[in-house]
Amino acid sequence: MRRVLESSGREVSRIGWGGMPLSLPPRPGPKEAVALVREGLALGVDFIDTADVYCRDDHDLGHNERLFAEALRGHPGRGEVLVATKGGLRRPGGAWVEAGRPEALRAACERSLVALEVEQIALYQLHAPDPEVPFADSVGTLFQLQREGKIAHVGLSNVSAEELAEALALGPVVSVQNQLHPLDLTALEDGVLRACEQAGVTFIAYSPVGGRHDREAVLAHPALVRAGAQLGVGPGTVALAWLLTLSPNLVAIPGASRIETLRASLAARDLALPAEITATLDRAFDAPRGRR
Ligand SMILES: NC(=O)c1ccc[n+]([C@@H]2O[C@H](COP(=O)([O-])OP(=O)(O)OC[C@H]3O[C@@H](n4cnc5c(N)ncnc54)[C@H](OP(=O)(O)O)[C@@H]3O)[C@@H](O)[C@H]2O)c1
Repeated sequence: MRRVLESSGREVSRIGWGGMPLSLPPRPGPKEAVALVREGLALGVDFIDTADVYCRDDHDLGHNERLFAEALRGHPGRGEVLVATKGGLRRPGGAWVEAGRPEALRAACERSLVALEVEQIALYQLHAPDPEVPFADSVGTLFQLQREGKIAHVGLSNVSAEELAEALALGPVVSVQNQLHPLDLTALEDGVLRACEQAGVTFIAYSPVGGRHDREAVLAHPALVRAGAQLGVGPGTVALAWLLTLSPNLVAIPGASRIETLRASLAARDLALPAEITATLDRAFDAPRGRR
């Protein structure tokens, strides 16, 4: 099951891998993490989402990018793996703080090029708009970095439909990465997913299994547990397969710090949900399908 990151011309599987759990405490040791990434690559992972700020704090920036770079070093299929990263946040004392000034974004991009061991970043995403900085200044910097060849494609994250429209007026945006999981369908209700579909921009669903906050509730949800039992897969696999039915434009990036969960997520690539199960899940999560 493959999906083109529409306007970038790159094809990736609709289930990628979000790197955050490999670098936020509690995190696996570096050797264990690199071995896990190599196992994931062997299982066909071809889309990796990372960020400079997937780390403990500002002294540890690039931790996650360096893990993936090490795992990909010498990997025969390295050229087939799309590694997307982000800039625009900082981690002072472990907090998450916007840092969208042009000079901060430029410095972050330069650091990511080194951490990822690449000459050009395949997809560079603005992690979040900075309320202290005009949005056009932050996005404009990414387009400037693209013109300089440091970035192949520009993406956004944590944006509204209006912000996407503003960015598209400045240049080509290939992706929007916002939260979407069965218990948080905001992106379907606030118009972002529809705006992506209309503009041919890929929607990247983050925290698709609920993230740190809602993972337990998603995995214990009776409708997902029941559907999983019927299909012989886990509730996380069903959740991901169901998310993929919400839009042909959607790619999900579940996180994993264990091979079992990575395997469970990748199983969603090939799971076609029977129509009656999809309808049951639509009702269970009150999905605004067709009402968008
Ligand atoms: N742009 C942003 O602002 C933003 C914000 C948050 C996340 N993200 C991105 O989105 C990625 C995913 O989000 P996330 O890591 O917060 O949450 P998530 O994908 O919902 O996953 C959270 C945890 O659920 C477990 N899990 C994953 N898939 C599973 C499955 N199929 N079955 C059972 N359990 C499963 C994993 O546990 P184990 O660790 O035990 O394997 C994982 O660590 C991040 O890694 C990051 O790349 C972006």
